[in-house]
Amino acid sequence: MVGNSIEAGEGAGRPHAKRILVTGASGTLGRVIVPGLAQAGFRLQLNDLAHFPDELPDGVDFVAADLTDQGALAAACPEDVTDIIHFGGINTELSSKAILDANILGSLNVFEVARMREARVIYASSNHTIGFHPRGATLTIDDPYRPDGYYGLSKAYVELLGRLFYDKHGVESVHLRIGSCVPEPVDTRHLATWLSYPDLVRLMIAALTVPNPGYAVVWGISRNTRRWWIGDDAQRIGYFPQDDAEAYADRVNAETGEAVSLAFQGASHCAIGYTRDEPGERL
Ligand SMILES: NC(=O)c1ccc[n+]([C@@H]2O[C@H](COP(=O)([O-])OP(=O)(O)OC[C@H]3O[C@@H](n4cnc5c(N)ncnc54)[C@H](O)[C@@H]3O)[C@@H](O)[C@H]2O)c1
Repeated sequence: MVGNSIEAGEGAGRPHAKRILVTGASGTLGRVIVPGLAQAGFRLQLNDLAHFPDELPDGVDFVAADLTDQGALAAACPEDVTDIIHFGGINTELSSKAILDANILGSLNVFEVARMREARVIYASSNHTIGFHPRGATLTIDDPYRPDGYYGLSKAYVELLGRLFYDKHGVESVHLRIGSCVPEPVDTRHLATWLSYPDLVRLMIAALTVPNPGYAVVWGISRNTRRWWIGDDAQRIGYFPQDDAEAYADRVNAETGEAVSLAFQGASHCAIGYTRDEPGERL
């Protein structure tokens, strides 16, 4: 279990009125946010295919269900749920069929359950929605999607699903375009893309507690000096990151990889299955 202590602000430790379903709770980031949110007083119910590998915090339950089975997901979701933190699914580039099931069908089911229960969705989107933008470009959330694989495409799809469900049904959703959420920056790309674990928890608390976010998109990064991404809904939802990858600048490794990886923001995802000539002037 990754240690993750964070001041949770007002209300820390007291039971919170919110009742939250966490999908993908047994994954790497689930195991970071569960203790952080439990410590902040949120009432959590966990979901995953795999059992939660750590000791469950007091008052936290786990119910296994496959996201691709809407009935099972609905049964695993508390009747009084107020928010669904949706971290479950495939977290990397795989076959289109695997991504279609876990990430697209699974997310459709999450949004349908959220609509039935009138819950907010907080979604782990990704920088791979825009991965084929060239390095050197500074992006806002208004720049076009340029997914760098089936995985990034599924994340863009779910952001649009959130847009549709807000416009048509009033289902609120906050989409976190996570960069590189790892304990410490490892290479020079991370100096731009890093999201620290404490900032991840801050981001979750902001997304859970902001009144009326409607539809929001936030870059899931720390306050990195070398960030590539600006112009999002962070301030609107009350996300104020406190860590900066720059503190690790003298320790990280130079980024390595093929020319395609180094040419585009999505790095190695761009190079997977790439069949064009070297990037060159298509940038
Ligand atoms: N780690 C990062 O830097 C990063 C960056 C961008 C986006 N994200 C996104 O954040 C989320 C969490 O990432 P992670 O690194 O913890 O991933 P992870 O793979 O460690 O966790 C995902 C969890 O989802 C579960 N899962 C997969 N398919 C399922 C299904 N059909 N039904 C129920 N559960 C299922 C898995 O068992 C796993 O525990 C993912 O959606 C990922 O795409 C992470």
